[in-house]
Amino acid sequence: MAFPHTRLRRLRQSGVLRDLVRETELRASQLVYPLFVEHGLDRRTPIESMPGVDRLSINHAVEEAAEAAGLGVPAVLLFGIPAAKDDEGSGAWDDEGVVQLATRAIKEALPDLLVITDVCLCEYTTHGHCGRLRDDGSVDNDSSLELLARTAVSQARAGADVVAPSDMMDGRVGALRAELDAEGLADTPILSYSAKFASAFYGPFREAADSTPAFGDRRAYQMDPANAREAVREALLDVEEGADMVMVKPALPYLDVVRAVREATLVPVCAYNVSGEYAMVKAAAAAGYLDERAGVLEALTGIRRAGADVIVTYHAKDVARWLR
Ligand code: PBG
Repeated sequence: MAFPHTRLRRLRQSGVLRDLVRETELRASQLVYPLFVEHGLDRRTPIESMPGVDRLSINHAVEEAAEAAGLGVPAVLLFGIPAAKDDEGSGAWDDEGVVQLATRAIKEALPDLLVITDVCLCEYTTHGHCGRLRDDGSVDNDSSLELLARTAVSQARAGADVVAPSDMMDGRVGALRAELDAEGLADTPILSYSAKFASAFYGPFREAADSTPAFGDRRAYQMDPANAREAVREALLDVEEGADMVMVKPALPYLDVVRAVREATLVPVCAYNVSGEYAMVKAAAAAGYLDERAGVLEALTGIRRAGADVIVTYHAKDVARWLR
């Protein structure tokens, strides 16, 4: 006489049954595709650690954006590599800066595609830190806020649909909101990188954006990977300051944080499947160690299952193609 066990396998017998009872859905309409834009004419510069991702001159950025849009990806996230850097990162708020030019070009060609712009100074500063430096080399929180707010206003004026601060200064969401409102940009939403951890998984991005700190690291402003409760505090504070959406970054090593933030807030939660997560899968797939398509779909489904409404991922075009 067999032990009377429950038969969960009954609902796994066929594809139709499995489809019927699937709990989590992954759709192209939930994806954001990051683009690295640089100056220059008709240029594509491959990023060695991120096969399939290039730095793009503006005409190629428009081309990539159009391809993504054609596949059903609703949004791009722009990062800029400026022609020149300085101490304060003035390229970030230059109305003719590379992100501003790319935003205008993409919105002109593809008015329905959402353009989200990264608001940070690290790509624009000679020292590679995300805010203004004091003489002792530490990042000065409060005097950085004005520069970040200026950047967001300049990007929104260029046509950005959403601005996304990733610098991790305290109070930046409130500062951005106040400045946007004062400049007649009250309808521009803020997607805050609320819980951005000081992560080794940003390595390939820093090669791509040329934003490795010239000295030190980012642990005095980005979060300690060990802290989940603090991540919830960050998200709650950002919502209080006016964030319309919050983000957890990276995604895969922080799925518990995605879940905690999902449960603690009522705003849409975004997770950033970062450059190092992308590089790991691409390297393993290239070596023949795993199946890229199955691996990526599983990872992104896991991020959705953890509670993310939106996923920023360099796999966006591929995923949209696979889901067709
Ligand atoms: C800028 C910024 C970083 C990333 C997004 N915005 C890098 C960093 O903080 O060093 C990382 C994105 C990725 O790794 O894909 N502050």
